[in-house]
Amino acid sequence: MTSAKFTMLSLPLFPDQASVSAQRVDAVYFALLAISAIFATLIFVLIIYFAIKYRRGATVDRVIRRKDYLKLEMTWIIIPLLISFGIFGWAAKVYFDLKTPPDDALEIYVVGKQWMWKIQHPNGVREIDELHVPVGRTVKLTMTSQDVIHSFFIPAFRIKQDVLPGRYTTEWFKATKVGEYHLFCAEYCGTSHSGMVGKVVVMEPLDYERWLREGSAQQSMTASGEALYTKLSCGTCHKPGGRGPELTGIYNREVELEGGGVAIADREYLRESIINPMAKIVKGFPRMMPTYRTQLTEDQVNELIEYIKSMSGGQETASRSTIK
Ligand code: CUA
Repeated sequence: MTSAKFTMLSLPLFPDQASVSAQRVDAVYFALLAISAIFATLIFVLIIYFAIKYRRGATVDRVIRRKDYLKLEMTWIIIPLLISFGIFGWAAKVYFDLKTPPDDALEIYVVGKQWMWKIQHPNGVREIDELHVPVGRTVKLTMTSQDVIHSFFIPAFRIKQDVLPGRYTTEWFKATKVGEYHLFCAEYCGTSHSGMVGKVVVMEPLDYERWLREGSAQQSMTASGEALYTKLSCGTCHKPGGRGPELTGIYNREVELEGGGVAIADREYLRESIINPMAKIVKGFPRMMPTYRTQLTEDQVNELIEYIKSMSGGQETASRSTIK
């Protein structure tokens, strides 16, 4: 009995609050809960009060007065309207901040695959179904899927984002507490969806550095990308005066396209150009690049893009200048 009671009491209703956003999301949640509770209580108390007061047989004034109650009506329109707008503005601010990674973030790559999470750190260390991160540091996850739609969900950080094939999505967090937290796939993705779970390990920065050094990395993502670039002979065409556009400095720049229009050579564009080269042809170049769809995994595409980024000094912000 005692132990059963104890289990009931220790049943956690809420996951840990282990990130900066967790507190902000919970604040909105509890405010909504409190407002709902206040109005529900008010309405229930009045229902019970009137039900008793005007019960059958009670001697009360039952005359219906046909009168305008403009002030009363305006009050119950305007006050809830202001409350709703307030909640909307507040929650929208929290949401937009959750969707906008800060610039100084440590970038980690995630590839979803039936049924595992493959994670790679910029220095090349790989892990599966585990994500090691330093505490107090902004971490941005750049995510894509090798097959179907998954969703990367860390309840303790209050973040969840779909992970889509053929597209990159991001989410970010700043962990505030050292510890281990659940990691779930939150999108039904087939037979073993329920087994697509893992853990996030938040470490002291020095422990994280040590963990990275002792990790499995043979070489950094940039170096792996460079090796792939050489192996696939990308440089045969992509060189000054070559049959393909030069890639140095191309990352996040505008490129002029054949048939008019421009594109920003961001991660999305570069992936498309590797997987489906005919989709957008840079102005002045022949339609001749073969697809690498079957030759590259999403991890390898990430590495190639890391390398192309490094050829551009790795800048993340879009520049106005145009490559011709
Ligand atoms: Cu992956 Cu559900």
